[in-house]
Amino acid sequence: MRTFPPKHLTILFTLIIIFFSGCYYDVAEELYPSSSCNTADVSYSGFVDPTMKSFCYVCHSTTSGPANGNIILEGYSNIKVYVDNGKLVGAIKHDSNFSPMPQGGSKLSDCTIAKIESWVAAGAPNN
Ligand code: HEC
Repeated sequence: MRTFPPKHLTILFTLIIIFFSGCYYDVAEELYPSSSCNTADVSYSGFVDPTMKSFCYVCHSTTSGPANGNIILEGYSNIKVYVDNGKLVGAIKHDSNFSPMPQGGSKLSDCTIAKIESWVAAGAPNN
């Protein structure tokens, strides 16, 4: 019967250790996916409004006209209406009772949605 020389066993065990430590790091990344998304202290002027400007003003600004459901998201008092009736969060989360937004574009990132939800949960401060 053939036996492996010790040198080969050392290489084999080294490879096994490298293999499993690789798996360990993969799992660790999946366990903590939100570590790079900071949802604390989200402000209207610093985050929510710039996001609206980038993704929504093209259809929902004060100058975009009445074609898009007459929905204006520019300016705090205008967006606050859709915060209070639940449509803002429903639309960006693509909840089934709402029209998915941004219309014709891809869904906002999970982190962006989480930050907007956090701002809403904090009472949608005008900050
Ligand atoms: C390409 C144009 C377009 C863009 C971009 C767009 N919307 Fe809309 N949006 C519409 C139209 C048209 C309607 C009205 C018809 C409908 O409900 O589908 C609407 C409706 C809505 C509604 C009401 C939904 C409901 O279920 O009553 C909300 C809230 C909304 N949009 C938010 C947003 C937000 C937030 C963004 C950016 C993340 C965005 N929209 C981007 C065109 C757009």
